[in-house]
Amino acid sequence: MKTPRILITEPIPETVIAYLKEFGHVTIGEKGQYNTEQILINELDGYDALLCMLSTPVTKAVLTSATNLKVVANFAVGYNNIDVDTASKLGIKVANTPDVLTEACGDFAMALLMATTRSFYKAERYLRDGKFKGWEPLGFLGMELRGKVLGIVGMGRIGQAFAQRAKAFGMKIMYHNRSQLPPLLERELDCTYISNLEELARQSDVLSLNCPLTQETHHLIDNHIFSNMPTHSILINISRGPVIDEAALAKALHTGEIAGAGLDVFENEPKVHPELLTAPNCTILPHIASATFETREAIGMLAADAIKKVLEGARDKDISNLVTG
Ligand code: DGY
Repeated sequence: MKTPRILITEPIPETVIAYLKEFGHVTIGEKGQYNTEQILINELDGYDALLCMLSTPVTKAVLTSATNLKVVANFAVGYNNIDVDTASKLGIKVANTPDVLTEACGDFAMALLMATTRSFYKAERYLRDGKFKGWEPLGFLGMELRGKVLGIVGMGRIGQAFAQRAKAFGMKIMYHNRSQLPPLLERELDCTYISNLEELARQSDVLSLNCPLTQETHHLIDNHIFSNMPTHSILINISRGPVIDEAALAKALHTGEIAGAGLDVFENEPKVHPELLTAPNCTILPHIASATFETREAIGMLAADAIKKVLEGARDKDISNLVTG
């Protein structure tokens, strides 16, 4: 059998590259090199496998141009950058990386919540700018977590990991989801299902987005939701930027409709809405929720393993992380 050709769109952990090299000819792109449709259309034809990032636009045009392609493995749990329907029509398998980033993202959501409620970055900048002249009784006051309601939108693996951590900080957990969790799991997480999103927004001191980006969740959080959130409340987003109408969020922050936001993802990454950059109490980070050594290696190995199995002709049911259209 001919050695398969594998394109990795940008550098990933060495162990993963070494693993792929055991069975394929591997080409590695440079950071951001494959972030446009046109370059993929020009260069992907002839490859058997694509290991891509969430910033790689694997569109219908890209998939139809790659006549030899058998598998696309996304280096991410989200796969909104891939046209899964077209891939299945063309018989191209699509894989993602569920489970392995749950703990890193759960940790990160908690850290982002605390950084936002306690103004870490604003306070740090204040110190670095030489403005700290001694302990201040009224300096940088923030919301305490014990007894507050964390409203989670999207109670999948990452939402649950966040809920467990927040529980340990004494928060009460409410959630909104496509479907209610089984009673046993609800009891274990000690969480309350709220079927109506506006109602969850009204009741939450912290509203956290942990849902995938789909047609239904695009701009799920808009002016209407902000008008339902209490003025002291905080919005956290580690899911996907377009779940929020960013212009509406910027307005809500500038007018004091809500008290703050912690954002790891943006509507038009890597661009950030200019009015979010100037908004008061907005923690903004460059999409790093899963960025731990352990997790990024595990993400890579899971994606690489799906590539190996597809190329070896494994049955779909033996590849646990396949996504279907
Ligand atoms: C994912 O895998 O979808 C995450 O956004 C990466 O941090």
